[in-house]
Amino acid sequence: MSKSIILVTGGTGYIGSHTVVALQQAGFEAVIIDNLSNSTAEVVDGIARITGARPHFERVDCCDRHAVAAVFEKYPGITAVIHFAASKAVGESVEKPLLYYRNNLVSLLNVVEEMLAHAVLSIVFSSSCTVYGQPAALPVTEDAPVQPALSPYGNTKQICEEILRDTAASCALQGVLLRYFNPVGAHPSAEIGEWPVGVPQNLVPFITQTAAGVRKELSVFGNDYHTPDGSCIRDYINVVDLARAHVQAVNYLLGGKNKTAMDVFNIGTGKGLSVLELVSAFQEATGVKIPYKITGRRAGDIEQVWANPGKAHAVLGWHAQESIEDTLRSAWKWEKKVRGIEQ
Ligand code: WQD
Repeated sequence: MSKSIILVTGGTGYIGSHTVVALQQAGFEAVIIDNLSNSTAEVVDGIARITGARPHFERVDCCDRHAVAAVFEKYPGITAVIHFAASKAVGESVEKPLLYYRNNLVSLLNVVEEMLAHAVLSIVFSSSCTVYGQPAALPVTEDAPVQPALSPYGNTKQICEEILRDTAASCALQGVLLRYFNPVGAHPSAEIGEWPVGVPQNLVPFITQTAAGVRKELSVFGNDYHTPDGSCIRDYINVVDLARAHVQAVNYLLGGKNKTAMDVFNIGTGKGLSVLELVSAFQEATGVKIPYKITGRRAGDIEQVWANPGKAHAVLGWHAQESIEDTLRSAWKWEKKVRGIEQ
């Protein structure tokens, strides 16, 4: 029997590449489309080295409807789509809102329209816990209200969720919205990982670059929040665990197990860690000291959020497995590889 083919948009990106590995290891065949705006084609080599199989790769911008259509025509065996392709820098989205609305909304519209035109009816969408804003109750469950977005980036995630819900209500499209908490770490082989452009905005890449001596010190954005140590709390989810959630979501949809046309799941560990706790965990896991200073709060930061991932466990059979120590060690191993630091 030939393998089921999954189309992965944004498949050379950080989460996309780990998901392609997980798909291939689970027996699926993957077709990646990516415009390489924030990744390189070498990622495909890394995936091939890990899995022993080379995914199909098409350099396609999802905003180009004809090019997306051509991919569905070239691979008639596609059974489901995992849609990652999107711009994701929160700060940049405030500077360039139209770029974000165009990229993130037009990509989704093109992908879904071509799915329906080719009778591909299952989609897994890359959403974010950012839709909850600061939840009133923690840990946050999927039925917590979606709050007005704090950035155009966050708003595109909310609008994409609505587009998918409305479409699923109108036709045979079915899907899963995965709301990620804070994805961190790298594949344990260090063949693939996160590759931030310029100064990292996210905490873990900034820490690993500080450990590598690329940055002088970490700025901890605020220690006067209403949390036990005053720094913000997040739910840091290992990217390999997160990748596995996509495979389980695909199996759930293709297995016809879903009861709702567009279901939603939190993908987090269920445990909150403060910025200062994360810095300590990194130091303990790697033995590398991170110089840091406390600075003012960063505009738009949520004080504290962590997941109740119970629904993903009960319905998808998914739960996070990796420890934060192993996760941070994997991030450090990747940083060392990228910087040519001896392992
Ligand atoms: C985590 C914590 C910072 C850097 C963002 C997006 C979200 C998602 C992931 C996208 C916060 C603190 C950070 C630093 C620090 N989406 N921090 N010093 O803000 O939770 O989520 O990225 O792809 O939509 O909003 O993640 O890693 O930026 O910050 O003290 O140099 O670390 O204040 O408390 P965040 P983050």
